[in-house]
Amino acid sequence: MQVVKHINDLQTILDGKREEGLSIGFVPTMGALHNGHLSLVEQAGQQTGFVVVSIFVNPTQFNDKGDLERYPRDLQKDVDLLTSTCCQLVFAPESDEIYPEPDTRQFNFGTLEQVMEGKFRPGHFNGVAQVVSRLFDLVQPDKAFFGQKDFQQLAIINEMVRKLKLPVEIIACPIIRESDGLAMSSRNMLLSPEQRKNAVHISATLFEAANKISGSSVEELCKWVTNRINENEYLDTEYFEIVDSVTLLPVNSWDEPCVKVGCIAVHCGKIRLIDNIEFK
Ligand code: PAJ
Repeated sequence: MQVVKHINDLQTILDGKREEGLSIGFVPTMGALHNGHLSLVEQAGQQTGFVVVSIFVNPTQFNDKGDLERYPRDLQKDVDLLTSTCCQLVFAPESDEIYPEPDTRQFNFGTLEQVMEGKFRPGHFNGVAQVVSRLFDLVQPDKAFFGQKDFQQLAIINEMVRKLKLPVEIIACPIIRESDGLAMSSRNMLLSPEQRKNAVHISATLFEAANKISGSSVEELCKWVTNRINENEYLDTEYFEIVDSVTLLPVNSWDEPCVKVGCIAVHCGKIRLIDNIEFK
C-alpha cells in the first residue's frame, strides 16, 4: 500500500493502474478510521480492481469551528489500519493541495440540503459537495463508496452526480454498529466513558421505534422518540424526522408509498451524533 500527499503522485499511479485495465474504487474519508470506514473499503475491494482511500479533514464542511478543531486526526494510525485491508493507495493531501485558492462554488440541491442536517448545519453540504467533486475530479473513480450512516449526505452526493453528469457509480453501504448498537463514528472516541454508556440509548430507541409502527401514527412516534431520548440526562435531541428516502421530506402517514427512514441528530455534551433507521 502506498501513501501519497501530492496530486501528481496520485495521478501518476492511477494512470498506470488504468493502463493495466484496472477499475478504480474510491472511498473518501476524513480519517479517524473505524470498522464503518473499513466496510466501505472491503466493498470497494470486492467491486473494483484498485482501491483508493482519501483522508482529508475538509475545513469547508465544518460550520462549527470547535467541531473542526476537535475532529480526531491520527494519520499513522489510519495508515496502519488500512495496511491490513484491500486498500492499495492512500491519498492524504494538505489543505492547499485541495484548495489552492478558496472554493467559491455554490451548489444548489433544493430541499435536499434545506432539511434536517441542512437546517442545523448551514453550508455543510455545500462544503461536502465542494470536496467530493474535487476529489472525484482528481481520482476519476469508476465507483465511489459511501455509508448510509450519513443518509442525507448520500442523497446529496447522488444528486450532485446526477446534476453534474459525473461518470461515477455511487455505491451505498449499510451502517456498521458497535456491539451494543451505537452507530460507529469517528466522533464516538470523543465521548467520555459516561457519555459513551448513555449514547447507546439513541440506537436502542430507534430499534424500539421500528417495532412500534403498527401501534402509533408517524407524528406520535416522532414525539415518542424525541421524548424518550431526552429523558436521558446526557442526551438532547436536535431533530428526529421520518422522511421519504428519496425526497427527504417528512412523511405524514405510514400509507405513503415510499421507503421511510427515521433520521436523528442528538447532542451528547459537546458531541453531535447522527443515526438513522428504515421503518418497514
Ligand atoms: P467520514 O465521516 O470520515 O465518513 C467517510 C465515509 O464513511 C462516509 O461515506 C460515511 O457515511 C461512512 N461511514 C461512517 N461511519 C459509518 C458507519 N458506522 N457505517 C457505515 N459507513 C460509515 O463523510 C465524510 O467523512 C465526509 O463528509 C466526506 C464524504 C469524506 C467528505 O469530506
